[in-house]
Amino acid sequence: MSAAQQDCAVYVFDAYGTLFDVHAAVRKHADALGPNSALLSEIWRAKQLEYSWVRSLMGKYKDFWTLTEEALDFAFDKVPDADRSKREELLAAYHKLEAYPEVRVVLEQLKAQGKSLAILSNGSPAMLEAAVEGNGLSDLLDHVLSVDELHTYKTSEAVYDLVGTVFRAFPEAVSFQSSNRWDIAGASAYGFRTVWINRTAQPDEYRDLSPAAQLHDLNGLLML
Ligand code: LAC
Repeated sequence: MSAAQQDCAVYVFDAYGTLFDVHAAVRKHADALGPNSALLSEIWRAKQLEYSWVRSLMGKYKDFWTLTEEALDFAFDKVPDADRSKREELLAAYHKLEAYPEVRVVLEQLKAQGKSLAILSNGSPAMLEAAVEGNGLSDLLDHVLSVDELHTYKTSEAVYDLVGTVFRAFPEAVSFQSSNRWDIAGASAYGFRTVWINRTAQPDEYRDLSPAAQLHDLNGLLML
């Protein structure tokens, strides 16, 4: 562990795509959804995020669960051969989305080193609670922070401010992990020490707002 890493007493994780696998819901029903199921899942996620940014800019907040439903409906419109009768099952699966396989072990190791742990997510409180409990992570997390009380989304500074409010920590004492490069850009601009969990080998972007480190899953986090 580097000196910089030792200085971080608080580890904050993005939820969707970082701890929870956003494609797990569609994968579960892939056979029934047909050959374009992966496309359906990509559009679902892309639209969910687009709606969060556009609604934040407009000041027309709707909670993330509602955006998730609206994004799925758009994805079905774009991929008409996917079986729309799976809508409710997909939403049920998304509500308590599966964690990536290494998540629990890495959080346990951080906890054993005395770190404080939290989620900071666009997700609405009910969906975050279902995913955290469904994956047995409740006992490891000191806080599950949702943007919902602010009625805006990442990358608003007000969202990253939630961390300092609950932990009374300076931004540089916070290690922030996200698989979303745009979230890493926002968190780096805010002043967190950032780690990009680049699970799908995406090319770099927002090059003026770089992460302190890049990993392809959470396993390397303790070695930084
Ligand atoms: C979240 C979204 C960005 O969990 O995935 O905040």
